[in-house]
Amino acid sequence: MNCMAEEKKLFKVTIDNITIDVEPGTTILNAARQIGGDVTPPAMCYYSKLQGSGGKCRTCLVEVAAGSAADPRPMPKLVASCRTSVIDGMVVKNITSERVLDARAGVVEFLLLNHPLDCPICDQAGECHLQDLSYEHGKEGTRYEFKRRTFEKEDIGPYIQLHMTRCILCYRCTYVADQLTNNRVHGILDRGDHAEISTYISKAIDNDFSGNMIDVCPVGALTDKTFRFKNRVWFTKPVDAHRDCDTRLPDGQECCGKVTLWQRGDEVLRVTARKDQWGEVQSYEGKPGWICNTCRFDKKHVNDWVIEGPTKISRHSVISQGHYVGLQKPKETMPEVMGGRAPKLLMDIHDISEVNSVDISALPGPATSKTFEKKEQ
Ligand code: SF4
Ligand code: FES
Repeated sequence: MNCMAEEKKLFKVTIDNITIDVEPGTTILNAARQIGGDVTPPAMCYYSKLQGSGGKCRTCLVEVAAGSAADPRPMPKLVASCRTSVIDGMVVKNITSERVLDARAGVVEFLLLNHPLDCPICDQAGECHLQDLSYEHGKEGTRYEFKRRTFEKEDIGPYIQLHMTRCILCYRCTYVADQLTNNRVHGILDRGDHAEISTYISKAIDNDFSGNMIDVCPVGALTDKTFRFKNRVWFTKPVDAHRDCDTRLPDGQECCGKVTLWQRGDEVLRVTARKDQWGEVQSYEGKPGWICNTCRFDKKHVNDWVIEGPTKISRHSVISQGHYVGLQKPKETMPEVMGGRAPKLLMDIHDISEVNSVDISALPGPATSKTFEKKEQ
């Protein structure tokens, strides 16, 4: 048999003047991800590990300047790159297109019509894709004159709080519930301006893999109740760790047991799945690295884990502010100042301040001023 005939024909696609060969069926977004860098359109609803995701938010719009080698006419409208497959000879413009940048600014303006600008008090700040998008494409003002949609915060189960006012209706969490948990009990109710995420008649979300909904939420609409208001993410140190875990997904897939621990000192404040440069959970041996609720919510002690080392943050993020790979420790000046003598009295901050002796990760909820009040003598 002729080997050449067996070889798959690849499609040539040019994105922002960079040409790449990709397999037929690849979307423009995934072709751009293969190139990487600024050429890659942002994606607020597409999530490569969730079947059916994409096509909801329009942040990934691109211009198709030439449809294919056979028919090089441009496509009249901008297209959603997460839902449009490449054709051989296609020419795509992302950041090189004024139309795209203008449309993206418009999409951000729409997303922010109802989304509050409460980043200073939002747990997602520092790792929020909408925050990044707003910095890059947002306007300083709004033209919106109507009353914004607001919702009461809702406890949807023991571990997750829903802040619907922040939701951008990307549907990712519903796909997680459908594809990872035994029984989906939440969804998007109503349509249009009334659409909202909710559980069916106050049901609680407590399925074993439900915590992954927090990881896929691109904004601060679903937050981890064991971490809420405990710390700002850029003050924590992300560390890669793993443990043997045999919890299984309904389809037989196992919890990968590979996580990022978000530590402050020795305290483990939060456990999440490990993320890749697109903000999605990393894959291991071709399978997405989802983690179970036991690993995420119950294993909050360093002794529960085998520590591998500092996490490499591969995407642009404020978390890199706290980066400590190649850390240079400040010079210890005490022996020099003391001429080699040991100090007579060295005060330990814990002896004089109760604030520093509170184990924040062990609190059942967020720390408040009461937490630090001195106990009556
Ligand atoms: S709660 Fe988060 S993940 Fe779910 S639809 Fe809203 S924005 Fe998307
Ligand atoms: S990422 Fe393509 S429409 Fe949302």
